[in-house]
Amino acid sequence: MCGIVGYIGKQPAVPVLLEGLKKLEYRGYDSAGVAVLDETGISTCKTVGKLANLEEKLGQDYSKTCIGIGHTRWATHGRPSDINSHPHLDSEEKFAVVHNGIIENYLELKEWLIEQGHQFISETDTEVLPHLVSYYYEGDLVEAVRKVLKKVRGSFAMVVLSRQDPDKLVAARKDSPMVLGLGEGEYFVASDIPAILNYTRKTYILEDGEMVVLTKDGVTVTDFEGNPKSKEVYEVKWDAVAAEKGGYDHFMLKEIYEQPKALRDTMASRLGEQEVILQEFKLSAEEVKDLHKVFIVACGTAWHAGLVGKTLIERWARIPVEVDIASEFRYRSPLIDKHTMVVVISQSGETADTLAALREAKKLGARVVAVTNVVGSSVSREAHDVIYTWAGPEIAVASTKAYTTQLEGMVLLGLYLAQARGTMSPEKIGQVITALKEIPTQAQEVLEQAKDIEDFAQSFVDVEDTFFIGRSLDWNVAMEGALKLKEISYIHAEAYAAGELKHGTLALITEQTPVIAIATQMDVYDKTVSNVKEVKARDAKVIGITFQGNKDLAKSVDHVIYLPKTVVELAPILTVIPLQLLSYYVSVARGCDVDKPRNLAKSVTVE
Ligand code: F6R
Repeated sequence: MCGIVGYIGKQPAVPVLLEGLKKLEYRGYDSAGVAVLDETGISTCKTVGKLANLEEKLGQDYSKTCIGIGHTRWATHGRPSDINSHPHLDSEEKFAVVHNGIIENYLELKEWLIEQGHQFISETDTEVLPHLVSYYYEGDLVEAVRKVLKKVRGSFAMVVLSRQDPDKLVAARKDSPMVLGLGEGEYFVASDIPAILNYTRKTYILEDGEMVVLTKDGVTVTDFEGNPKSKEVYEVKWDAVAAEKGGYDHFMLKEIYEQPKALRDTMASRLGEQEVILQEFKLSAEEVKDLHKVFIVACGTAWHAGLVGKTLIERWARIPVEVDIASEFRYRSPLIDKHTMVVVISQSGETADTLAALREAKKLGARVVAVTNVVGSSVSREAHDVIYTWAGPEIAVASTKAYTTQLEGMVLLGLYLAQARGTMSPEKIGQVITALKEIPTQAQEVLEQAKDIEDFAQSFVDVEDTFFIGRSLDWNVAMEGALKLKEISYIHAEAYAAGELKHGTLALITEQTPVIAIATQMDVYDKTVSNVKEVKARDAKVIGITFQGNKDLAKSVDHVIYLPKTVVELAPILTVIPLQLLSYYVSVARGCDVDKPRNLAKSVTVE
C-alpha cells in the first residue's frame, strides 16, 4: 500500500507534493520520490527511508515548476532501495509513473518489453508502466495510457507525467483508491484525502475503471474507453486526523474494513485454475517431497495463524507439523535437521523472539520460510524463502488484516506443499482455489453485519470474564477472538476447546459469563452444538457463529451470526471478522484506547 500524489497548477509543485506525501506516510514509508517537469525534461529525486531523507536530498535548489508527481512506498515487488523507489521512468526518460497496487502480469510484460529492446533497472512491477506508455505512445498520451490499461492485470492507482505532453497529468484507478482535489486553477490527484486537505475540500472520489486528465484549467473524467463520466463534487467535512483514518473513528476499524482488499491482493497472481504459484518460493518439488517435518514459529496473533496452518498442512500435504511460540522454541532443543522446514510468521518481520527462533532454526540446518507483511524486514532478509502477505501497513496495535492474510498465507503454503508432494489431486486443489477466490466478497458480506454486532457489544460493557469455544479450527480462531477482546477492551477472555470445558472449566460458567461459540467445522458440528447446550444449561448468554443453513445452533444460543458458506479450511478467515468487530465495539463502549491499548506496542523488538 503506497501513497501517490500529483499536482498541476500555479504554485511550485515540489512543496505541494512533499506536503501531500507527509500526510500519506501512514500508507507506507520505506522510500519516497518526486518527479517534476520543466524545460529541461523530467527531473526525479528519490531515496530510501523516510520522507525526511527525500526533503534533505532535495534541499532548496529544486525546480520551481508547477507540475509533478510524488510517491511514498511500501515495498511489495523489490526491496526498499533508491532504484526501486518511485517515480519510475522509461529508458528515454520521456514518461514518469507513480503507482499504488500490484501489476499481476508484470513478469510476462517485462519479458515482452525486453524482447522489444526496453531496458529495466529496478525489481519493481511498476517499471513496466512507463515502458508500456513509451511503447504505445504515438503522439497522444491519453491514448497511450488507455492502451496500457488494456494490457495490465491487477490493481492500480497510477499517475503519468510526460515530457511529450507537458501540460497534463493522466491518472487511472482499478482496485486502489484515488481522489481528485479541485482547486482554483490547480488540481490534485492522490491516494487519499489527507494529501489534499491543506489545499481544497472539494473532491471527486474516483471509481474503479475511471481515468482522468488533469490540466491547469480543469479535469476530465472518463472510463477506460474514453466515454465521459459525470462526477459529483464531494465536499470533505472531516478534519485532517479523521481523514487519515479514511473517515473511520479508529485505524483498527479501518483495517478491519480493508480486509477484502488485503485478501484479494495477497492471492493476486498466485492462483491458477488448479494450481498455486509461489514465484518467490525456491524450494524444488523434490526438496518438498524430502521434508520430514514442519515447524511453525511465531508470536501472538501470528502464532494463532500458525495453529490453523498446522491443520491445513497436515491435512493437505500430509507432513507432521509442530507449532511453537517463538519465545519458547529456542529453549526446548527442537529436533531439527535438513529435512525440516521452519515457517516463521511475522507481520512486522522484526519481532525479536521470532527473529531469534529463525536464526536458531537456520543454525540447526532447517530450511526457513518467512510469511511476513514487510518487504525488506529482518525476517524477510534472513529467511531462505518468503511468502509476503500484501495487507499494507497495519497501524492499530491489535492485528486484524495481518491475521487474515496470514491465514491466507497458510492456505497458499498448504496447497503448494500438497501439490508438490502429490497428496492432493488438481481437482481438489481447484475446488479450494475456487472457494478462496470468493473469500474477499464473502468477507465483505460479513462486514455488512457490523451494526448488529455493535448492538450486542453493548451488553459486554460490564462483563468481567468471557469464554470463546470451538473445536478444531474453530478453537484456533477462538484463541484469536479471546486475544483481541483482552488486548483492547481489558476483559478477561479465555479460549477453550469446546469438548474440554467439562473437564474442569465448566465450573466457571455462570449467567455472568458470556460465551462465544464457533461451529463451522462440520465434522465436529454436532459435538460442538452439544457442548453449547452444556454452557447454556449453566445459564450463560451464548452467541453462536456458524455457516448459513446450519439451523440447529440457533435453538441452543441467544444470538447467531451467520457466515457465507465456504470450504471448512477457509472458514477461519471469515469467522474471525465478527470477533474483531465485537472486540472493537466493546472496546469503544468501554472507553478504551482502541488503537493504542495499554502496556502494548505494535512491534516487540525485545525478547
Ligand atoms: C495482537 C498482535 C500481536 C502480534 C505479535 C507478533 O493483536 O498484534 O500478538 O501478532 O506481537 O507480531 P509480528 O506478527 O509483527 O511478529
